[in-house]
Amino acid sequence: METNRLTVIGGLGKMGAALIDGLLVAEVYEASDVVATTRHQRRLDAHTGAFRATLDNLEAVLGADVLLLAVHPDQARDVLLQIKDDMRPDALVISIVTGVPTFAIEGWLGGQLPVIRAIPNIAAVVRASMTALCRGQYATEEHMLLTERLFEPVGLVARIDERHMDSCTGLAGCGPAFALEVIEALALGGVKRGLPRDVARLMAAQVLRGAAELVLETGMHPAELRDQVTTPGGCTIDGITKLEERGLPIALIEAVEVSAIKAGLLRGENGD
Ligand SMILES: NC(=O)c1ccc[n+]([C@@H]2O[C@H](COP(=O)([O-])OP(=O)(O)OC[C@H]3O[C@@H](n4cnc5c(N)ncnc54)[C@H](OP(=O)(O)O)[C@@H]3O)[C@@H](O)[C@H]2O)c1
Repeated sequence: METNRLTVIGGLGKMGAALIDGLLVAEVYEASDVVATTRHQRRLDAHTGAFRATLDNLEAVLGADVLLLAVHPDQARDVLLQIKDDMRPDALVISIVTGVPTFAIEGWLGGQLPVIRAIPNIAAVVRASMTALCRGQYATEEHMLLTERLFEPVGLVARIDERHMDSCTGLAGCGPAFALEVIEALALGGVKRGLPRDVARLMAAQVLRGAAELVLETGMHPAELRDQVTTPGGCTIDGITKLEERGLPIALIEAVEVSAIKAGLLRGENGD
């Protein structure tokens, strides 16, 4: 299957634009082969023009061999019903819509179109997304390989069984927001101790990045790495004791769980 025309419905939104940007920078597509659509004229007016954008979904899907759906869950059904008769019969449909399963998309499109569901996250903006992928019943290995090529420019990609996709939303989709809470709180700890705010924020962010790199590069268990830096009777164990006492681990576990549950309820609801 050739990758020569990509249409991103909702392509001027946060996720759609980040993905297009990553694809253009990585030269997976030429700007002239990408079309984004949006719903409101004011969004179109604000577009930088780095690639073509339009309000016309029907015109945009004509001839596209890959269609990326990047709208909110409450828009997905209407958009797919609107465009299904104008799409190429062999088009690959990739959806990043939260909570909407592949079987629903296949049903709305009718026929036997290949559908792949992806859950990226907002760190795609800085090419550090974690993207989970699963495929519908008509998508082939070739479609999966192509989709991996489309998401690899914006970060890591993992194939996941579809029954885990809402859990991936709770962890990888919503996780950056949780990590940002942690960064902000760590920085406030520094400010409480008298550090300038900008220094505290820089340190907190780099600390999370460093800890993440340690896990990713060594492949070691986080608890093992933590034990290596926690000297018996030292200062780190006092901080860890406080985190345990205040319930940070259980708060994060429950945050992932409630977000995953909500993700499964979003189809048909407004926003996320
Ligand atoms: N943000 C995240 O971290 C994240 C992570 C994983 C998955 N997701 C999922 O990705 C999807 C997009 O999220 P987002 O954060 O990028 O939202 P967003 O910034 O609000 O972008 C959604 C875009 O969809 C456009 N749109 C809505 N209805 C449309 C229609 N009928 N035709 C064409 N365009 C239409 C909107 O255009 P107008 O602005 O012109 O109305 C808007 O620009 C959602 O399903 C979200 O759950 C998001």
